[in-house]
Amino acid sequence: MTPAEYQRRRRRLAKAIGAESVAILPAASEVVRNRDVHYPFRQDSDFSYLSGFPEPDAWLAIVPKRKGGEFILFCRPRDPEREQWDGARIGPEGAIEQFGADQAYPLSELDQQMPRLIEGRSQLYYPIGRSADLDNRVMGWVHQVRAKARSGSSAPEVFINLGSVLHEQRLRKSPAEIAVLKRAARLSAQAHLELMRLCRPGLTEWQLAAEFRYRCALAGAPELAYPSIMAGGPRACILHYIANSAELVDGELVLVDAGCELAGYASDITRTFPINGRFSPTQRRIYELVLKAQQAALACVQPGRRWNEPHEAALKVLTKGLIELGILSGEPKQLIKDEAYKPYYMHRTGHWLGMDVHDVGDYRRDGEWRKLEPGMVFTVEPGLYLPQTEAVPEDYRGVGIRIEDMVLVTEEGHEILSGAVPKDPDAIERVMERG
Ligand code: GLY
Ligand code: MN
Ligand code: MN
Repeated sequence: MTPAEYQRRRRRLAKAIGAESVAILPAASEVVRNRDVHYPFRQDSDFSYLSGFPEPDAWLAIVPKRKGGEFILFCRPRDPEREQWDGARIGPEGAIEQFGADQAYPLSELDQQMPRLIEGRSQLYYPIGRSADLDNRVMGWVHQVRAKARSGSSAPEVFINLGSVLHEQRLRKSPAEIAVLKRAARLSAQAHLELMRLCRPGLTEWQLAAEFRYRCALAGAPELAYPSIMAGGPRACILHYIANSAELVDGELVLVDAGCELAGYASDITRTFPINGRFSPTQRRIYELVLKAQQAALACVQPGRRWNEPHEAALKVLTKGLIELGILSGEPKQLIKDEAYKPYYMHRTGHWLGMDVHDVGDYRRDGEWRKLEPGMVFTVEPGLYLPQTEAVPEDYRGVGIRIEDMVLVTEEGHEILSGAVPKDPDAIERVMERG
Protein backbone atom coordinates (compact mmCIF):
# COMPACT_ATOMS: atom_id res chain seq x y z
CA MET A 1 0.00 0.00 0.00
CA THR A 2 1.29 3.45 -0.82
CA PRO A 3 1.55 6.29 1.73
CA ALA A 4 -1.22 8.03 -0.26
CA GLU A 5 -3.55 5.05 0.33
CA TYR A 6 -3.03 5.26 4.10
CA GLN A 7 -3.54 9.00 4.00
CA ARG A 8 -6.82 8.57 2.12
CA ARG A 9 -8.01 6.09 4.76
CA ARG A 10 -7.15 8.46 7.62
CA ARG A 11 -8.79 11.40 5.87
CA ARG A 12 -11.95 9.40 5.34
CA LEU A 13 -12.03 8.43 8.99
CA ALA A 14 -11.33 12.02 10.08
CA LYS A 15 -14.15 13.25 7.88
CA ALA A 16 -16.54 10.59 9.17
CA ILE A 17 -15.93 11.35 12.86
CA GLY A 18 -15.74 15.15 12.45
CA ALA A 19 -13.84 17.97 14.12
CA GLU A 20 -15.58 17.49 17.49
CA SER A 21 -14.03 14.05 17.81
CA VAL A 22 -10.77 12.25 18.38
CA ALA A 23 -9.98 8.61 17.56
CA ILE A 24 -7.32 6.61 19.37
CA LEU A 25 -6.16 3.06 18.80
CA PRO A 26 -3.46 0.74 20.18
CA ALA A 27 -1.36 -1.60 18.07
CA ALA A 28 -1.18 -5.30 18.91
CA SER A 29 1.31 -6.54 21.49
CA GLU A 30 3.64 -9.48 21.30
CA VAL A 31 2.34 -12.65 22.93
CA VAL A 32 4.61 -15.04 24.80
CA ARG A 33 4.58 -18.61 23.50
CA ASN A 34 7.00 -20.03 26.04
CA ARG A 35 9.70 -18.37 28.10
CA ASP A 36 11.79 -16.18 25.77
CA VAL A 37 9.82 -17.11 22.66
CA HIS A 38 6.94 -15.10 21.18
CA TYR A 39 4.27 -16.12 18.71
CA PRO A 40 5.00 -14.56 15.31
CA PHE A 41 3.83 -10.96 15.60
CA ARG A 42 0.74 -9.95 13.64
CA GLN A 43 -0.24 -6.28 13.68
CA ASP A 44 -3.80 -5.39 14.66
CA SER A 45 -5.78 -5.08 11.42
CA ASP A 46 -7.41 -1.74 12.28
CA PHE A 47 -4.05 -0.29 13.27
CA SER A 48 -2.41 -1.59 10.14
CA TYR A 49 -5.29 -0.31 7.99
CA LEU A 50 -4.84 3.24 9.24
CA SER A 51 -1.07 3.43 9.52
CA GLY A 52 0.79 0.53 7.94
CA PHE A 53 2.98 0.80 11.04
CA PRO A 54 4.29 -2.71 11.74
CA GLU A 55 5.66 -2.58 15.29
CA PRO A 56 4.01 -3.81 18.50
CA ASP A 57 2.75 -1.64 21.38
CA ALA A 58 2.40 1.56 19.33
CA TRP A 59 -0.62 3.90 19.61
CA LEU A 60 -2.13 6.24 17.11
CA ALA A 61 -4.42 9.24 17.41
CA ILE A 62 -6.42 10.89 14.67
CA VAL A 63 -7.48 14.37 15.68
CA PRO A 64 -9.43 16.01 12.85
CA LYS A 65 -8.48 19.61 12.07
CA ARG A 66 -5.91 19.80 14.87
CA LYS A 67 -3.46 22.63 14.30
CA GLY A 68 -0.29 20.68 15.02
CA GLY A 69 -1.39 17.87 12.67
CA GLU A 70 -4.11 15.23 12.57
CA PHE A 71 -2.10 12.02 12.72
CA ILE A 72 -0.03 11.33 15.83
CA LEU A 73 1.94 8.13 16.43
CA PHE A 74 3.49 6.82 19.63
CA CYS A 75 6.08 4.08 19.26
CA ARG A 76 9.08 2.38 20.81
CA PRO A 77 12.14 4.60 20.78
CA ARG A 78 15.29 3.67 18.94
CA ASP A 79 17.50 1.56 21.22
CA PRO A 80 20.85 0.36 19.85
CA GLU A 81 21.18 -2.35 22.47
CA ARG A 82 17.71 -3.88 21.82
CA GLU A 83 18.15 -3.43 18.09
CA GLN A 84 21.35 -5.49 18.27
CA TRP A 85 19.16 -8.42 19.41
CA ASP A 86 15.79 -7.89 17.76
CA GLY A 87 16.42 -5.84 14.63
CA ALA A 88 15.97 -2.22 13.67
CA ARG A 89 13.19 -0.13 15.21
CA ILE A 90 11.43 2.62 13.33
CA GLY A 91 11.40 5.15 16.16
CA PRO A 92 9.47 8.42 16.27
CA GLU A 93 11.68 10.01 13.58
CA GLY A 94 10.97 7.08 11.24
CA ALA A 95 7.26 7.28 12.07
CA ILE A 96 7.25 10.80 10.67
CA GLU A 97 9.57 10.18 7.73
CA GLN A 98 8.32 6.79 6.57
CA PHE A 99 4.74 6.56 7.85
CA GLY A 100 3.47 10.08 7.36
CA ALA A 101 2.85 10.93 11.02
CA ASP A 102 2.45 14.65 11.61
CA GLN A 103 3.96 14.20 15.06
CA ALA A 104 5.48 11.17 16.77
CA TYR A 105 6.55 10.49 20.35
CA PRO A 106 8.28 7.69 22.21
CA LEU A 107 5.86 5.49 24.17
CA SER A 108 7.19 6.91 27.43
CA GLU A 109 5.26 10.11 26.60
CA LEU A 110 1.93 8.40 25.98
CA ASP A 111 0.37 9.19 29.37
CA GLN A 112 1.49 12.77 29.16
CA GLN A 113 0.46 13.49 25.56
CA MET A 114 -2.77 11.52 25.18
CA PRO A 115 -4.79 13.71 27.60
CA ARG A 116 -3.69 16.74 25.58
CA LEU A 117 -4.93 15.15 22.37
CA ILE A 118 -8.37 14.27 23.71
CA GLU A 119 -8.83 17.54 25.60
CA GLY A 120 -11.49 19.80 24.11
CA ARG A 121 -13.04 17.05 21.98
CA SER A 122 -16.58 16.03 22.87
CA GLN A 123 -16.52 12.53 21.35
CA LEU A 124 -13.88 9.86 21.81
CA TYR A 125 -13.69 6.91 19.42
CA TYR A 126 -11.73 3.86 20.54
CA PRO A 127 -12.23 0.04 20.59
CA ILE A 128 -14.63 0.09 23.54
CA GLY A 129 -14.66 -3.06 25.62
CA ARG A 130 -11.84 -4.82 23.78
CA SER A 131 -10.22 -5.39 27.16
CA ALA A 132 -10.62 -4.08 30.69
CA ASP A 133 -6.99 -2.87 30.60
CA LEU A 134 -7.64 -0.79 27.51
CA ASP A 135 -10.85 0.71 28.93
CA ASN A 136 -9.07 1.56 32.18
CA ARG A 137 -6.15 3.16 30.42
CA VAL A 138 -8.33 5.32 28.19
CA MET A 139 -10.60 6.34 31.08
CA GLY A 140 -7.48 7.25 33.05
CA TRP A 141 -6.65 9.81 30.36
CA VAL A 142 -10.22 11.09 30.38
CA HIS A 143 -10.02 11.52 34.16
CA GLN A 144 -6.79 13.45 33.82
CA VAL A 145 -8.54 15.93 31.53
CA ARG A 146 -11.58 16.16 33.81
CA ALA A 147 -9.37 16.89 36.78
CA LYS A 148 -8.32 20.09 35.05
CA ALA A 149 -11.92 21.23 34.40
CA ARG A 150 -11.49 24.30 36.58
CA SER A 151 -8.74 25.54 34.31
CA GLY A 152 -11.26 25.46 31.47
CA SER A 153 -10.49 22.15 29.76
CA SER A 154 -13.31 19.86 28.69
CA ALA A 155 -13.19 16.09 28.44
CA PRO A 156 -15.07 13.85 26.00
CA GLU A 157 -18.62 13.05 27.14
CA VAL A 158 -19.52 10.63 24.39
CA PHE A 159 -17.65 7.37 23.81
CA ILE A 160 -18.14 5.56 20.54
CA ASN A 161 -16.80 2.24 19.36
CA LEU A 162 -14.21 3.05 16.70
CA GLY A 163 -15.24 -0.07 14.78
CA SER A 164 -18.71 1.34 14.14
CA VAL A 165 -17.14 3.80 11.71
CA LEU A 166 -13.87 2.18 10.75
CA HIS A 167 -15.32 -1.22 9.95
CA GLU A 168 -17.86 0.25 7.56
CA GLN A 169 -14.87 1.77 5.79
CA ARG A 170 -12.93 -1.51 5.77
CA LEU A 171 -15.96 -3.37 4.38
CA ARG A 172 -15.74 -1.51 1.07
CA LYS A 173 -12.43 -2.36 -0.52
CA SER A 174 -10.39 0.20 -2.42
CA PRO A 175 -8.84 -0.60 -5.82
CA ALA A 176 -5.46 -1.15 -4.10
CA GLU A 177 -7.02 -3.59 -1.62
CA ILE A 178 -8.82 -5.44 -4.39
CA ALA A 179 -5.54 -5.78 -6.27
CA VAL A 180 -3.88 -7.38 -3.21
CA LEU A 181 -6.84 -9.69 -2.57
CA LYS A 182 -6.69 -10.81 -6.20
CA ARG A 183 -2.99 -11.57 -5.90
CA ALA A 184 -3.56 -13.46 -2.63
CA ALA A 185 -6.36 -15.46 -4.28
CA ARG A 186 -4.23 -16.30 -7.32
CA LEU A 187 -1.38 -17.44 -5.15
CA SER A 188 -3.57 -19.66 -2.98
CA ALA A 189 -5.37 -21.01 -6.02
CA GLN A 190 -2.02 -22.02 -7.51
CA ALA A 191 -1.07 -23.83 -4.27
CA HIS A 192 -4.46 -25.62 -4.22
CA LEU A 193 -3.86 -26.74 -7.79
CA GLU A 194 -0.44 -28.12 -6.84
CA LEU A 195 -2.05 -30.08 -4.00
CA MET A 196 -4.52 -31.66 -6.41
CA ARG A 197 -1.61 -32.63 -8.65
CA LEU A 198 0.47 -34.29 -5.97
CA CYS A 199 -2.28 -35.85 -3.85
CA ARG A 200 -2.29 -39.64 -3.66
CA PRO A 201 -3.20 -42.38 -1.18
CA GLY A 202 -0.56 -42.86 1.51
CA LEU A 203 0.38 -39.20 1.83
CA THR A 204 -0.59 -37.61 5.14
CA GLU A 205 -2.77 -34.61 5.84
CA TRP A 206 0.29 -33.05 7.44
CA GLN A 207 2.24 -33.38 4.19
CA LEU A 208 -0.53 -31.63 2.29
CA ALA A 209 -0.48 -28.81 4.86
CA ALA A 210 3.30 -28.54 4.56
CA GLU A 211 3.10 -28.46 0.76
CA PHE A 212 0.48 -25.72 0.87
CA ARG A 213 2.52 -23.54 3.20
CA TYR A 214 5.69 -24.22 1.22
CA ARG A 215 4.11 -23.28 -2.13
CA CYS A 216 2.67 -20.05 -0.71
CA ALA A 217 5.94 -19.14 0.99
CA LEU A 218 7.96 -19.79 -2.16
CA ALA A 219 5.58 -17.58 -4.11
CA GLY A 220 6.06 -14.72 -1.63
CA ALA A 221 3.42 -15.27 1.06
CA PRO A 222 5.07 -16.93 4.07
CA GLU A 223 2.09 -16.41 6.39
CA LEU A 224 -1.24 -18.19 6.21
CA ALA A 225 -4.52 -16.39 6.83
CA TYR A 226 -5.69 -19.19 9.18
CA PRO A 227 -4.59 -22.71 10.12
CA SER A 228 -5.01 -25.00 7.12
CA ILE A 229 -7.71 -27.67 7.22
CA MET A 230 -6.59 -30.84 5.45
CA ALA A 231 -9.36 -33.26 6.25
CA GLY A 232 -9.34 -36.73 4.73
CA GLY A 233 -12.46 -38.93 4.78
CA PRO A 234 -14.89 -38.41 7.69
CA ARG A 235 -12.66 -35.78 9.30
CA ALA A 236 -14.08 -33.38 6.68
CA CYS A 237 -17.26 -33.35 8.80
CA ILE A 238 -15.31 -31.57 11.57
CA LEU A 239 -15.60 -27.98 10.40
CA HIS A 240 -12.35 -26.68 11.84
CA TYR A 241 -10.28 -29.86 11.70
CA ILE A 242 -6.74 -28.53 12.01
CA ALA A 243 -5.00 -31.54 13.58
CA ASN A 244 -4.10 -32.69 10.05
CA SER A 245 -2.58 -35.80 11.57
CA ALA A 246 -4.00 -38.75 9.62
CA GLU A 247 -3.06 -40.63 6.50
CA LEU A 248 -4.97 -40.10 3.26
CA VAL A 249 -6.89 -43.23 2.37
CA ASP A 250 -7.55 -44.60 -1.10
CA GLY A 251 -11.21 -44.16 -2.08
CA GLU A 252 -11.88 -41.27 0.30
CA LEU A 253 -12.18 -37.55 -0.37
CA VAL A 254 -9.98 -34.85 1.11
CA LEU A 255 -11.30 -31.42 2.02
CA VAL A 256 -8.64 -28.71 1.69
CA ASP A 257 -9.52 -25.34 3.24
CA ALA A 258 -6.43 -23.13 3.09
CA GLY A 259 -5.36 -19.62 2.16
CA CYS A 260 -2.29 -17.46 2.38
CA GLU A 261 -2.08 -13.99 3.85
CA LEU A 262 -0.47 -11.47 1.53
CA ALA A 263 0.51 -7.97 2.62
CA GLY A 264 -1.93 -8.29 5.52
CA TYR A 265 -4.87 -9.52 3.40
CA ALA A 266 -6.47 -12.95 3.66
CA SER A 267 -7.39 -15.49 1.06
CA ASP A 268 -9.79 -18.33 1.87
CA ILE A 269 -10.44 -21.18 -0.55
CA THR A 270 -11.83 -24.70 -0.12
CA ARG A 271 -11.76 -27.55 -2.56
CA THR A 272 -12.78 -31.16 -1.95
CA PHE A 273 -11.38 -33.84 -4.22
CA PRO A 274 -10.85 -37.62 -4.41
CA ILE A 275 -7.57 -38.75 -2.86
CA ASN A 276 -7.02 -41.25 -5.69
CA GLY A 277 -8.06 -38.81 -8.42
CA ARG A 278 -11.48 -40.31 -9.27
CA PHE A 279 -14.82 -39.52 -7.67
CA SER A 280 -16.92 -42.60 -6.86
CA PRO A 281 -20.53 -42.32 -8.11
CA THR A 282 -21.83 -41.58 -4.59
CA GLN A 283 -19.11 -39.00 -3.92
CA ARG A 284 -19.83 -37.36 -7.25
CA ARG A 285 -23.54 -37.19 -6.50
CA ILE A 286 -23.01 -35.31 -3.25
CA TYR A 287 -20.26 -33.18 -4.76
CA GLU A 288 -22.51 -32.09 -7.62
CA LEU A 289 -25.20 -31.17 -5.16
CA VAL A 290 -22.85 -28.88 -3.22
CA LEU A 291 -21.58 -27.40 -6.47
CA LYS A 292 -25.15 -26.71 -7.57
CA ALA A 293 -25.80 -25.01 -4.24
CA GLN A 294 -22.72 -22.87 -4.73
CA GLN A 295 -23.80 -21.91 -8.24
CA ALA A 296 -27.25 -20.96 -6.98
CA ALA A 297 -25.65 -18.84 -4.25
CA LEU A 298 -23.25 -17.17 -6.69
CA ALA A 299 -26.14 -16.25 -8.99
CA CYS A 300 -27.43 -14.00 -6.17
CA VAL A 301 -24.16 -12.08 -5.81
CA GLN A 302 -25.05 -8.78 -7.44
CA PRO A 303 -25.19 -5.20 -6.24
CA GLY A 304 -28.52 -4.46 -4.62
CA ARG A 305 -29.20 -8.06 -3.60
CA ARG A 306 -29.20 -8.70 0.12
CA TRP A 307 -26.54 -10.51 2.15
CA ASN A 308 -28.80 -13.43 3.07
CA GLU A 309 -29.86 -14.21 -0.51
CA PRO A 310 -26.88 -16.41 -1.46
CA HIS A 311 -27.32 -18.37 1.80
CA GLU A 312 -31.00 -18.91 1.20
CA ALA A 313 -30.43 -19.97 -2.40
CA ALA A 314 -27.87 -22.53 -1.20
CA LEU A 315 -30.24 -23.80 1.51
CA LYS A 316 -32.96 -24.46 -1.06
CA VAL A 317 -30.69 -26.58 -3.24
CA LEU A 318 -29.15 -28.43 -0.31
CA THR A 319 -32.47 -29.18 1.37
CA LYS A 320 -34.01 -30.51 -1.85
CA GLY A 321 -30.85 -32.54 -2.37
CA LEU A 322 -31.05 -34.01 1.13
CA ILE A 323 -34.59 -35.16 0.32
CA GLU A 324 -33.39 -36.76 -2.92
CA LEU A 325 -30.60 -38.52 -1.06
CA GLY A 326 -33.19 -39.97 1.32
CA ILE A 327 -31.77 -38.15 4.33
CA LEU A 328 -34.65 -35.73 4.87
CA SER A 329 -38.28 -36.19 4.08
CA GLY A 330 -41.01 -33.61 3.84
CA GLU A 331 -41.77 -30.36 2.14
CA PRO A 332 -38.63 -28.28 1.31
CA LYS A 333 -40.13 -24.97 2.50
CA GLN A 334 -41.17 -26.41 5.83
CA LEU A 335 -37.87 -28.25 6.27
CA ILE A 336 -35.99 -24.99 5.70
CA LYS A 337 -38.24 -23.20 8.18
CA ASP A 338 -37.59 -25.96 10.72
CA GLU A 339 -33.86 -25.84 9.96
CA ALA A 340 -33.96 -29.59 9.30
CA TYR A 341 -30.77 -29.22 7.23
CA LYS A 342 -28.77 -28.09 10.29
CA PRO A 343 -27.32 -31.51 11.25
CA TYR A 344 -25.81 -31.65 7.73
CA TYR A 345 -25.15 -27.98 7.00
CA MET A 346 -24.49 -26.04 10.18
CA HIS A 347 -22.63 -22.95 9.01
CA ARG A 348 -23.59 -19.97 6.91
CA THR A 349 -22.74 -19.71 3.25
CA GLY A 350 -20.06 -17.05 3.61
CA HIS A 351 -18.41 -14.20 5.48
CA TRP A 352 -16.77 -10.88 4.65
CA LEU A 353 -13.13 -11.25 3.66
CA GLY A 354 -10.32 -8.71 3.88
CA MET A 355 -7.50 -8.09 6.31
CA ASP A 356 -9.17 -10.63 8.60
CA VAL A 357 -10.35 -13.92 7.21
CA HIS A 358 -13.68 -13.39 8.93
CA ASP A 359 -13.55 -9.72 8.17
CA VAL A 360 -15.23 -6.81 9.89
CA GLY A 361 -18.49 -5.20 8.83
CA ASP A 362 -22.11 -5.63 9.87
CA TYR A 363 -24.24 -8.19 8.09
CA ARG A 364 -27.43 -6.44 9.13
CA ARG A 365 -28.21 -2.72 9.19
CA ASP A 366 -31.28 -1.22 10.78
CA GLY A 367 -32.81 -4.63 11.32
CA GLU A 368 -32.40 -5.79 7.70
CA TRP A 369 -29.82 -7.87 5.90
CA ARG A 370 -27.54 -5.39 4.21
CA LYS A 371 -27.47 -4.82 0.49
CA LEU A 372 -24.42 -5.88 -1.49
CA GLU A 373 -22.34 -3.09 -3.00
CA PRO A 374 -19.48 -3.04 -5.51
CA GLY A 375 -16.17 -3.38 -3.67
CA MET A 376 -17.42 -5.82 -1.04
CA VAL A 377 -15.50 -9.09 -0.91
CA PHE A 378 -16.75 -12.28 0.73
CA THR A 379 -16.69 -16.05 0.50
CA VAL A 380 -19.37 -18.32 -0.93
CA GLU A 381 -18.86 -21.67 0.74
CA PRO A 382 -21.75 -24.12 0.96
CA GLY A 383 -21.06 -27.62 2.18
CA LEU A 384 -22.61 -30.86 3.26
CA TYR A 385 -21.37 -32.93 6.18
CA LEU A 386 -22.98 -36.34 6.43
CA PRO A 387 -22.34 -37.94 9.81
CA GLN A 388 -21.70 -41.63 10.37
CA THR A 389 -25.13 -42.26 11.85
CA GLU A 390 -28.24 -44.27 11.07
CA ALA A 391 -29.95 -41.16 9.68
CA VAL A 392 -27.65 -41.26 6.67
CA PRO A 393 -27.73 -44.05 4.03
CA GLU A 394 -24.61 -46.19 4.50
CA ASP A 395 -22.94 -45.19 1.23
CA TYR A 396 -22.98 -41.52 2.16
CA ARG A 397 -21.78 -41.79 5.75
CA GLY A 398 -18.70 -39.78 6.63
CA VAL A 399 -18.70 -37.73 3.44
CA GLY A 400 -17.90 -34.06 4.02
CA ILE A 401 -17.74 -31.61 1.13
CA ARG A 402 -17.27 -27.85 1.02
CA ILE A 403 -16.60 -25.67 -2.01
CA GLU A 404 -15.42 -22.19 -1.15
CA ASP A 405 -14.59 -19.28 -3.44
CA MET A 406 -13.64 -15.66 -2.87
CA VAL A 407 -16.00 -13.27 -4.57
CA LEU A 408 -15.86 -9.55 -5.33
CA VAL A 409 -19.09 -7.64 -5.93
CA THR A 410 -18.71 -5.56 -9.10
CA GLU A 411 -20.94 -2.98 -10.83
CA GLU A 412 -22.10 -5.71 -13.24
CA GLY A 413 -22.46 -8.58 -10.78
CA HIS A 414 -19.48 -10.36 -9.34
CA GLU A 415 -16.02 -11.64 -10.05
CA ILE A 416 -14.73 -14.91 -8.60
CA LEU A 417 -11.21 -14.20 -7.40
CA SER A 418 -10.29 -17.83 -6.77
CA GLY A 419 -11.45 -19.21 -10.11
CA ALA A 420 -8.01 -20.47 -11.13
CA VAL A 421 -8.45 -23.68 -9.16
CA PRO A 422 -10.96 -26.04 -10.77
CA LYS A 423 -14.14 -27.14 -9.05
CA ASP A 424 -15.99 -28.89 -11.85
CA PRO A 425 -15.59 -32.61 -10.99
CA ASP A 426 -14.44 -33.56 -14.51
CA ALA A 427 -11.91 -30.73 -14.51
CA ILE A 428 -10.61 -31.87 -11.11
CA GLU A 429 -10.21 -35.43 -12.39
CA ARG A 430 -8.35 -34.18 -15.46
CA VAL A 431 -5.90 -32.16 -13.32
CA MET A 432 -5.34 -35.12 -11.00
CA GLU A 433 -4.89 -37.55 -13.87
CA ARG A 434 -2.14 -35.45 -15.42
CA GLY A 435 -0.45 -35.11 -12.01
N1 GLY B 1 -11.32 -21.13 6.65
C1 GLY B 1 -12.27 -20.59 7.53
C2 GLY B 1 -13.54 -20.37 6.85
O1 GLY B 1 -13.74 -20.86 5.78
O2 GLY B 1 -14.38 -19.65 7.33
MN1 MN C 1 -14.40 -19.09 4.75
MN1 MN D 1 -12.23 -21.48 4.41
